[in-house]
Amino acid sequence: MYFPAEIIKKKRNKYELTAEEIEFFIMSYTRGEIPDYQMSALLMAIFFNGMTTTETVTLTKTMLHSGVVVDTSSIDGFKTDKHSTGGVGDKTSLILGPVVAAAGVYVPMISGRGLGHTGGTLDKLESIPGFNTQQSLEKFIELTKKIGTCFIGQTKDICPADKKIYALRDVTATVESLPLICASIMSKKMAEGIDGLVLDVKFGSGAFMKTPAKAKELAQALMAIGQGYGKKVVAMLTSMEQPLGRFSGNSLEVFECLEIMKNKKFISADGIDLYEDTRELSLQLSAHMIFMSGKTASLADAYNLAAEMLVSGKALKKFEEMCAAQGGDIHKLPSAKNKSAVVQTKASGFLQAYNVEKIGLAGICLRAGRQKTDDVLNLVSGIEFHKKIGDPINMNDVIFTIHGDEPQLFKEAEDLLQTCFEISLQKPAPHVLIKETLL
Ligand code: URA
Repeated sequence: MYFPAEIIKKKRNKYELTAEEIEFFIMSYTRGEIPDYQMSALLMAIFFNGMTTTETVTLTKTMLHSGVVVDTSSIDGFKTDKHSTGGVGDKTSLILGPVVAAAGVYVPMISGRGLGHTGGTLDKLESIPGFNTQQSLEKFIELTKKIGTCFIGQTKDICPADKKIYALRDVTATVESLPLICASIMSKKMAEGIDGLVLDVKFGSGAFMKTPAKAKELAQALMAIGQGYGKKVVAMLTSMEQPLGRFSGNSLEVFECLEIMKNKKFISADGIDLYEDTRELSLQLSAHMIFMSGKTASLADAYNLAAEMLVSGKALKKFEEMCAAQGGDIHKLPSAKNKSAVVQTKASGFLQAYNVEKIGLAGICLRAGRQKTDDVLNLVSGIEFHKKIGDPINMNDVIFTIHGDEPQLFKEAEDLLQTCFEISLQKPAPHVLIKETLL
């Protein structure tokens, strides 16, 4: 017999939980026998006091086996996926899924919704009218086999524990915890029946791990779990010191991905292609996914194959095919009716730094992300970025444009955005997107 409050107290008092205690708590919560307020308390205790490696592995295993592990043995070929630890404007999944599938490597992807200040692939895809991220297990396998990729969320069959806990962490300030992130990501990824995984572990002001050292620690913990399940795992440590690409916000990010898959550029007032970082990171991640499948002799060949899939339009065709198969009509992608420029009146100089987490919170002010688990998102709202770190800044330059169709929400977001950037007189060191790759 276990008492939820006693288990919470034990973790609160910094003791190690047994496997049986973790299993009892997680499974009872998943079945609805433990209420949200007790789960929230345990999450906060874990947030503050951490978990040992043994506890983290047990938590991952329990969350994984709260549902089924997808049997992908009928899919004849290498199956791979990518997962990001979360960021702002972080939309690479929508490009790399189709790129890698077009290159002949299967990508069965279980994704999440927005978490904390970061965006989520499921919310982005659901901005496409009709797109259904809640496919049955059979359909998930059928579509992966037929198209090469399928994007779904946690369901009552697949990772139901993460489905509930993820939504609760989103609104209880319990996201930035190494064991909770590890268990959340790896339970989903190990449920997919994949052979290999590429992790995009973010660091910086918009990441859950603020420093490269913390991101590396998380990457190593994630890799150890994946390798323990016998998977090939690669982790890239990438910067979230500035938002990725031109937009954050659900339909805006889908739009950006379509533009990139159509080989379009968007040149800023400073002569920079604002799609370039999204495009480059998507290709680098795709290259690792393709290379680990053994499809190419070298990583450089894999990169070239990924680029060919993008440039030839094959990835776009694959994306359209995937959307249609999941009920989505990409030609009806909605956009916002209103825009408002956020102009800087502080000083001239160079863009020194962003506070990317606060930019994500400005997105929540616009209802592009959630404050409560049952919040309904406004899928067309979001933020456009006009400047990258190091760009020259003049008085009255537009730094952001707010997009949305609820202009009454703009003022709060605008006030926050005014505090989200710093200007310096000295040009800062060039921003580095990819810091390190752990093989
Ligand atoms: N992505 C997830 O799926 N879970 C986390 O906890 C963080 C990022």
